[in-house]
Amino acid sequence: MESKRIAAEKAVELVKDGMKIGLGTGSTAYWAIQAIGRLVKEQGLGIQAVATSVQSEQLAKEWGIPMMPFAEVDMLDLTIDGADEVDAELNLIKGGGGALLREKIVAAASKQLIIIVDESKDVQQLGKFPLPVEIVPFAYELTVKKLQQLGCELKLRHNGEELFVTDNGNYIADCEFGDIKDPAALHDDLNRIPGVVDNGLFIDMASLVIIGSADGEIRSKT
Ligand code: A5P
Repeated sequence: MESKRIAAEKAVELVKDGMKIGLGTGSTAYWAIQAIGRLVKEQGLGIQAVATSVQSEQLAKEWGIPMMPFAEVDMLDLTIDGADEVDAELNLIKGGGGALLREKIVAAASKQLIIIVDESKDVQQLGKFPLPVEIVPFAYELTVKKLQQLGCELKLRHNGEELFVTDNGNYIADCEFGDIKDPAALHDDLNRIPGVVDNGLFIDMASLVIIGSADGEIRSKT
């Protein structure tokens, strides 16, 4: 908890008056949204934001962060988001919270993607965390078979008894590939399957990773 909070608060030091900001999703991004909210409320920081999930949008609104319509977004100055794994090249696995598609759309519209994590997410090679893949409900059984043919152990994500449904009305297949030796190639292979909307590999997107430790130390990787 503390390690996530200190990483988030370090990242928020980069938020300046007048900026357009992308707000991430998850328990680490939660702290960043709170810290931005405090700057808006207590110091009158003038920013505009877009959110990567319904959940983050609600939190931002509770804090009085001014939200902008996507139609008005040309380029965001920066996005602050969490991740499930980060490797030495700053490639990421995201989507543990199911928000990977909106997160990738917002990240791709940002000059800088700043990732905030605790040290458990910092890995040599991606792949311990099952890779979330967002698939459309239509004929998802066929899409699942195609994904399995790429060599993964696959579980459809559930919410209780029901299949988990993303903010975009899709399903999530959590795919265990083991060590991912070539993340860029796997990213492309997955996205070539009809029925796959996108996957949680973020290749060459992050510009800075801020890592918080339980002992209060903060490291960064660029
Ligand atoms: C949301 O879909 C994810 O990409 C999150 O950013 C990621 O799962 C990290 O979440 P936590 O900060 O809660 O670990």
